[in-house]
Amino acid sequence: MEARAAAFLLGTYSFTKFHPRDGRGAKLVDADGKVYWDLLAGIAVNALGYRHPRLVKTLKAGATDLLHVSNLFYQPAQGELAERLVTLSGLSRAFFCNSGTEANEAAIKFARLANPGRAKLVALDNSFHGRTVGAVSLTGNLPYREPFEPLLPGVTFLPANDVEALRAAVDDTTSAVFLEPIQGEGGIVPLTPEFLRAARELCDATGAVLVFDEIQCGLGRTGKLFAFQRAGVTPDVVTLAKPLGGGLPLGAVLLNERVAALVKPGHHGTTFGGNPVACRLGLAVLDELVEGGLVAKVEETGAWFGKRLASLARRCPAVVDVRGAGLIRGIELDREAGPVQKKLLAKGFVVGTARKNVIRLLPPYVVPKAALSAFLSALEETLKEGAA
Ligand SMILES: Cc1ncc(COP(=O)(O)O)c(C=O)c1O
Repeated sequence: MEARAAAFLLGTYSFTKFHPRDGRGAKLVDADGKVYWDLLAGIAVNALGYRHPRLVKTLKAGATDLLHVSNLFYQPAQGELAERLVTLSGLSRAFFCNSGTEANEAAIKFARLANPGRAKLVALDNSFHGRTVGAVSLTGNLPYREPFEPLLPGVTFLPANDVEALRAAVDDTTSAVFLEPIQGEGGIVPLTPEFLRAARELCDATGAVLVFDEIQCGLGRTGKLFAFQRAGVTPDVVTLAKPLGGGLPLGAVLLNERVAALVKPGHHGTTFGGNPVACRLGLAVLDELVEGGLVAKVEETGAWFGKRLASLARRCPAVVDVRGAGLIRGIELDREAGPVQKKLLAKGFVVGTARKNVIRLLPPYVVPKAALSAFLSALEETLKEGAA
């Protein structure tokens, strides 16, 4: 199998030796039958965990529906999901696509309609917005950008939470400001409410479109359905993806009336975006998150976990900082995170990393506290074993 990957797959990924083959809830099982707690959830996708009964039922029902009809024709599941997302967010309209990067790409275009002729975009250092050219242009991480330059011109990058730099950057030539309310790839860095409020004020004053990329931190992960609801700052546009389709590709852009009113037939589109089965799964995900109480569970589990992480940081000198909210958490170490991640895998915990020295945790929302407790003990033990 690995020989096939080496021989036939494009070398975009450096695969690990871990081969998950089955799973249930927050547990994964590898090809040898070993069981792991999954604290990564397919990089923030599997919010409901594996083989969730509601998703299985929805998918089975969807198998006998039309799998695709094109966006030339209205699909009821799209309408229902749009209504749910609009109602829950307080924004006005939804556009569906297949992935996070496409959602951001669409947001760049919609912002252009709102501010014709303005080329300037403002984004943050260490941001991550995806891999297509527009999204890479907004991504403040050189290795992702440099090989593909020249990218979109006119992007200004600022340090996270630097209100003065934001004031200096946003003006009446700015098309849009792109922010992740909690930076994911950038090391789990929450933006402060003051910074988000300043962004809102500056965008109101200049007409720049405020876009929140909630692809990693949205849809319940912070303990609120939308991360912007934590800060009490409503953006003009929100981009969503990862958990929305319950594991199938589905992205969305939510827009306020000012921006939405400018988008006319022909301005944007997609062949596959808003696929009926993916949208049915999206409705099932929202049912579980909202009516099923899963977002409230994230808030409760996340608050408990946050305290446990803070206490770990106090007693463990190898932990430099702990950051995040709900079930999006970063543990910054005094050493490289990669070798620690490998040792944790050997102990039965799947975790992610961010930057060089941050352990990134994005567990399924159904994760039991016992799994998080066991992880903390394993991490502490691993860090005591010395610099890996
Ligand atoms: C904040 C953020 N934006 C955009 C993306 C890109 O999403 P996708 O990989 O679905 O294109 C990601 C993916 O990790 C992300 O974390």
